[in-house]
Amino acid sequence: MGDASDVVARRALGPISSPVAASEVEAPHPERRARNLDRDEGLSTAKLTVNALTAWFDDQQVLTDIAMEIPAEGVTAVIGPSGCGKSTFIRILNRMFEMKRGARLEGRITLDGEDIYARDVDPVQLRRRVGMVFQRPNPFPAMSVRDNVLAGLRLTGKVRQVKGGDGALERLVRQSLESAALWDDVKSRLDAPGGQLSSGQQQRLCIARAIAMEPEVLLMDEPCSALDPMATARIEDLIHALKARYTIVIVTHNIQQAARVSDRTAFFLQGELVEYGPTDRLFTAPRDPRTEDYVTGKFG
Ligand SMILES: Nc1ncnc2c1ncn2[C@@H]1O[C@H](COP(=O)(O)OP(=O)(O)OP(=O)(O)O)[C@@H](O)[C@H]1O
Ligand SMILES: [Mg+2]
Repeated sequence: MGDASDVVARRALGPISSPVAASEVEAPHPERRARNLDRDEGLSTAKLTVNALTAWFDDQQVLTDIAMEIPAEGVTAVIGPSGCGKSTFIRILNRMFEMKRGARLEGRITLDGEDIYARDVDPVQLRRRVGMVFQRPNPFPAMSVRDNVLAGLRLTGKVRQVKGGDGALERLVRQSLESAALWDDVKSRLDAPGGQLSSGQQQRLCIARAIAMEPEVLLMDEPCSALDPMATARIEDLIHALKARYTIVIVTHNIQQAARVSDRTAFFLQGELVEYGPTDRLFTAPRDPRTEDYVTGKFG
């Protein structure tokens, strides 16, 4: 869910200029694919594919010719220095990018093989399939814990599709909170305002809200950067537990965190995807000297 300013900007601007049609997009150069997507390294069927993606804010190009496949299984980490385009990249994956003023892109992004920028795709419905958790926990502070969990469903009208009345909704709230490892903390205060929870609990509440939508993909943009080490450890444990059910893409500034939680890592630098591969290999035997410099802390 975007913040209020995003929504206002989108309403003011209307949709972004249409991305080019699939047939107009040049097939990625074979060498580029080989560099970014090494099939020998065990990448399996793609859940999301990104081809020839270039993105701008007004005249400023912020992503350049990205080609990347994100497999359904496991956790994909996106790392790189501040301003390299990590948030922009994942916001493109659920069409939140277009809510920003001046945002424009070219290229083709598919989810299960279908172009997510096709004219007949409703971005709101897409965001149900591709959920997002943000850097700063953003529950509705005055809204109860229970209503926070259901907020995404209410906003997208999906709550009406939950059969079985209040009992079914109550079960959904409980299941979502259990999946987000928050149930035990809040079961006796479901009616308390979300803003009364600790920051770590608020972040798990946001994860519960995302899970209640039954997404297929969960995007997380630095979900632990506002949290202390204990709360961070809980979210990392949660990511381990959730990866069996969801395709997870996590942006992190923290290289150790990428090493701990992810199966694959993509290293971005100045809007380019420098290297992408299994996390172990990328950290122990990087193929690009820029990756090596970054993962060994020479810059960033
Ligand atoms: N709403 C916006 N309008 C104009 N430019 C933007 C906007 N959002 C981001 N940018 C620019 O796009 C580039 C990429 O920004 P982005 O937020 O994707 O980087 P990031 O890698 O997520 O950085 P950080 O690690 O600091 O979160 C930056 O140069 C930034 O200034
Ligand atoms: Mg960012």
